[in-house]
Amino acid sequence: MRTKIIKIAENNYAEALSEPAKALREGKIVAFPTETVYGLGAAWNNAEAVYNIFKTKGRPQDNPLIVHVAKQEDMKTYFAFWDRLAEALTKDFCPGPFTLIMPKADHVKSPVTAGLSTIGIRVPSNKIARELISLTNVGIAAPSANLSGKPSPTTLEDCVEDLEGKVEYIIDGGDCEFGVESTIVSWDGEVLKLLRPGAISEADIKAVLDRNSIDVELIDKTGKLLSEDEKPEAPGMKYRHYAPKAEVNIITGSNVEEKLDYINKIITNGNFDRIGLLISETLAACFRSEFSNNEEYNLIKNMVTFRKDERNQEAAHNLFKSFRIMDRENLDLILVEAVDEIGSGKAFMNRLRKASVKGDLWHENK
Ligand code: TXA
Ligand code: MG
Repeated sequence: MRTKIIKIAENNYAEALSEPAKALREGKIVAFPTETVYGLGAAWNNAEAVYNIFKTKGRPQDNPLIVHVAKQEDMKTYFAFWDRLAEALTKDFCPGPFTLIMPKADHVKSPVTAGLSTIGIRVPSNKIARELISLTNVGIAAPSANLSGKPSPTTLEDCVEDLEGKVEYIIDGGDCEFGVESTIVSWDGEVLKLLRPGAISEADIKAVLDRNSIDVELIDKTGKLLSEDEKPEAPGMKYRHYAPKAEVNIITGSNVEEKLDYINKIITNGNFDRIGLLISETLAACFRSEFSNNEEYNLIKNMVTFRKDERNQEAAHNLFKSFRIMDRENLDLILVEAVDEIGSGKAFMNRLRKASVKGDLWHENK
């Protein structure tokens, strides 16, 4: 199959997207940008097209897909009920990097749920994604557009790398704004759980509940230790994820000296020849001034830096992107500086820990 790359010029959205929208209506699969990561989409109510997503990604069949809709109002039709809590959270966070999982309505029958009684819906804020959904005129089921196990794609190049020749269209949306997948929350009318951290933080969610005088506790399920036979709340949580080919190590330490010590120990141990760094600008400046004359400095083949902002947004934005860039350069080790778990920092550390785990299953603290 020849994959066509769709480029969008200013004010040319409807015209440029009409072909991929038609393809989606006809049961084809299309990769498209969102504000979080690129998605691999199919019409949610076309079972064959949805199965094709699983096949193309190499995704296990027990891992459900999120349905993307054009506006908050459209979410309601997929769920068994709609209440004050659902209204409050989605009013504030949709459109945006937020997915709500609730019991599904009876009429909802699709392999997107992987046999569960719940369904996850989100309203992307990315202009291309929204226009595509509106033109298609049906909800779009879409997991991240990576092949299973690889880091989620956040640039056109990442999508092309994984999907060229496998999908009809890839829509170019440039760099994704957030670079990590949406925050996932589940609500069954009684218990509210945070299943996956994203750019919308626990504090943001609690603030909305407070403002609306909704007295429900948000239970954090994002770092749960799973035993071998335990079923995770979000099936995708059990798989090794986000992992580049290179080994990933987390730079820990409570101050710059400790972090430099850690880096020094690793680069001088002789185990790695081609090393990449993803670190804050502050640490990078100190690293350069202390180490640039050392012989081992030559082992550093790539360095990506991020500004430490209040919500750790730039760190999160650069994480998957750096994994992909460094894999293209065949590095054998990627060292990543830990950040505080505030704002997108929790999502950053969650993805980073998973990427640094060896083996197939994700076990917190192991
Ligand atoms: O930002 C995002 O959410 C991106 C973009 C493309 O929208 N999508 C994304 O999809 O990250 P995916 O499939 O890579 O991750 C979805 C996660 C998986 O861990 C899956 O198990 C979980 O959501 N999930 C989906 N539906 C669920 C459900 N009904 N119950 C529990 N977990 C669910
Ligand atoms: Mg994914």
